[in-house]
Amino acid sequence: MSDTKRRLLPMLGHTNGKRSAVTCALKCDNACASAVCNTSSNNYFRDIVSNELSRRSVMGAGAVGALTMLIGANAPQLAPGGTGIAPAVAMKRHGGKGKLKFTPIDPVDALVDDFTVPEGFAWRPVIRWGDPLFRGAPAFDANNQSAAAQAQQFGYNCDYTDIVEIPGSKGRRAVLFANHEYTNESIMFPPELPAGEVRAIARAAHGLSVVQLERKNKNAPWSYIVGAGLNRRYLLDTPYELTGPAAGSEFVKTIDDPAGRTILGTLGNCAGGTTPWGTILSGEENFNGYFITPGTSDADRRYGLTSRPTGRAWETDEPRFDTRNAGYANEANRFGYIVEVDPFDPNSIPKKHSMLGRFKHEGANVIVAGDGRVVAYSGDDERFDYLYKFVSKNTVRTGNSAEDRRANMELLSEGSLYVARFQGNSVPEIDGTGALPSDGAFDGVGEWLPLIIDNESAVPGMSAAEVAVFTRLAADKVGPTKMDRAEDVEPNPATGKVYVACTNNTNRGVPGQAPVDEANPRTRNRDGHIVELTENGGDQTSTRFTWNLLMVCGDPATNSSTYFSGYPKDKVSPISCPDNLAFDTAGNLWISTDGQPGTIGYCDGLFRVGLEGSERGRVDQFLSVPRDGETCGPIIHDDERNVFVAVQHPGEDGAWGAQNSLFPDYVEAGTAPKRGEGALPRPSVIQVFPAERAGKGDDKPGRGHGKGKPRTDDNRGGRDAK
Ligand code: FEO
Ligand code: CA
Ligand code: CA
Repeated sequence: MSDTKRRLLPMLGHTNGKRSAVTCALKCDNACASAVCNTSSNNYFRDIVSNELSRRSVMGAGAVGALTMLIGANAPQLAPGGTGIAPAVAMKRHGGKGKLKFTPIDPVDALVDDFTVPEGFAWRPVIRWGDPLFRGAPAFDANNQSAAAQAQQFGYNCDYTDIVEIPGSKGRRAVLFANHEYTNESIMFPPELPAGEVRAIARAAHGLSVVQLERKNKNAPWSYIVGAGLNRRYLLDTPYELTGPAAGSEFVKTIDDPAGRTILGTLGNCAGGTTPWGTILSGEENFNGYFITPGTSDADRRYGLTSRPTGRAWETDEPRFDTRNAGYANEANRFGYIVEVDPFDPNSIPKKHSMLGRFKHEGANVIVAGDGRVVAYSGDDERFDYLYKFVSKNTVRTGNSAEDRRANMELLSEGSLYVARFQGNSVPEIDGTGALPSDGAFDGVGEWLPLIIDNESAVPGMSAAEVAVFTRLAADKVGPTKMDRAEDVEPNPATGKVYVACTNNTNRGVPGQAPVDEANPRTRNRDGHIVELTENGGDQTSTRFTWNLLMVCGDPATNSSTYFSGYPKDKVSPISCPDNLAFDTAGNLWISTDGQPGTIGYCDGLFRVGLEGSERGRVDQFLSVPRDGETCGPIIHDDERNVFVAVQHPGEDGAWGAQNSLFPDYVEAGTAPKRGEGALPRPSVIQVFPAERAGKGDDKPGRGHGKGKPRTDDNRGGRDAK
């Protein structure tokens, strides 16, 4: 085993009851085993009841979503745009009745290497790690990998995914976007592969992919097209235009980019969002693990940047990854942004939008406000970090011209940036046990605190460029609420209500750390919770909101602190560590999880959650991903009853020659890796569809069929929780 790969093997046993130790090391540089980054003593008003804040928030409540611009049902028909196929403002559909009927599956034991869907459904990969994108690109060959081949193939560890139909194709053509968060060298590469080649392939396996899809008709499964005109890999040498206050500032200039406006590559991409104008946003999350820095400045410490050699040792090959090298002091300041790409123009220059701040962006999701401005929500996925909102200066254009599209792609470059403060109304009763307060809810009011207003800094002593680059430090000064790792933050297009997946925080309330508050009410929060936030007056641009917890997660069979908005606890699927969010056409919330094996002992999965009426709080598990894997990027194409997920890091804890998973190909399990496909796990985008459609409209059978045991009252709690 090479030195590089030996360095990648993590110490075992410090997972803090969630992810595997390997995932902790590779994905986020052991963030949970390191000191908490946010040591600021910002006064976030836990014990201060602001009567003024409460009064103003209550005044504006009601009429939720009334001003939210109706996009989708009332949007203009998609029509050819400047690039020939660009869609107009029409991406999010809503309203109407959800058509997806399924019998919830039973949770699947954490050690099972299988992909489980409900009875009556089948599944099949759309695309897998290593599948060729371009004509002449080699087929994946586990034993003959090269950086040149990987650069022409689908990358590793797909996370955010969306599928956007190509206008005018009658539902038969689409583009698929996926990002590639990180690599696991220990299970990807044969041990004899030279360390330098491992690093080069791993670099090429990062980044983004756009792949064109086709199907015979709307009832047939999708296939991807090798060599299609829209196919593109975004690699580490792809130039990105930096926009917003950071662009051209002294904080982002390097010897390679003295103007401070052009950044090569994107790193640590996690979740994302699809904008109403048809572009894709992707969040640069755990970028810190790729850099060596002096590790001595407040900014370094606040962003988890250290002087330790990195696990992947890319600094060996590219001096910019060691910011102590001459000319590269600012290189790490060029990552940690929201990236925007145009999947309909393979020649376009992607952007990094500093107006949305620099932090460990899980992703960003956009909704159009009543006045036509656009609002983007984003979480900083770090223990005790914050929730942010951006409001654009300009309004969205609904036309289809090239000029409309260009203008819409500048919406995220100018405007205002805020950070959230939550105020509970039952503060004295919040004791860390998760016991519901006597008013029957974890709830209260909140305020969006300005960091940048109309492109100008709102933080004393910091310029707008400083706020955009050192956003965590700026936020610390204004007193926002320290959250339990805000992952996906997604506005429901049907109601305008905003949902925040707080995945977990096992440091909450421990000695020396921030105490519980009503928005983060459990000590050592292992299982996470979902915040539901309503902007005042249904105005997405409001600086006031009300909030409540929709769900306090866990396995209710063994955990009395769980809460499902009053839905009977014995009739919900157990759920833990919520991560990515999506909505179906009926306005139901879908939640994918990351970390259940380490908490409630089940494989991660995808869950549908009712939000309204008697169904509110009902949790039904739809699918379960293979051993060690994480469920990402859910897409619910309800009209066609299709569900898509990205399966990230299947078999994470295995090793070359001792793989834990052979997903998705499931060749003879237990055999050593061999030449050719299928003997190692391959992160993939999976489509799930009604089984009667398998084989119809195309020549391929379904890869797998539903065999999930229906959840019943008898079996749902019939095993020991782990
Ligand atoms: Fe990449 Fe926040 O998970
Ligand atoms: Ca309360
Ligand atoms: Ca995530």
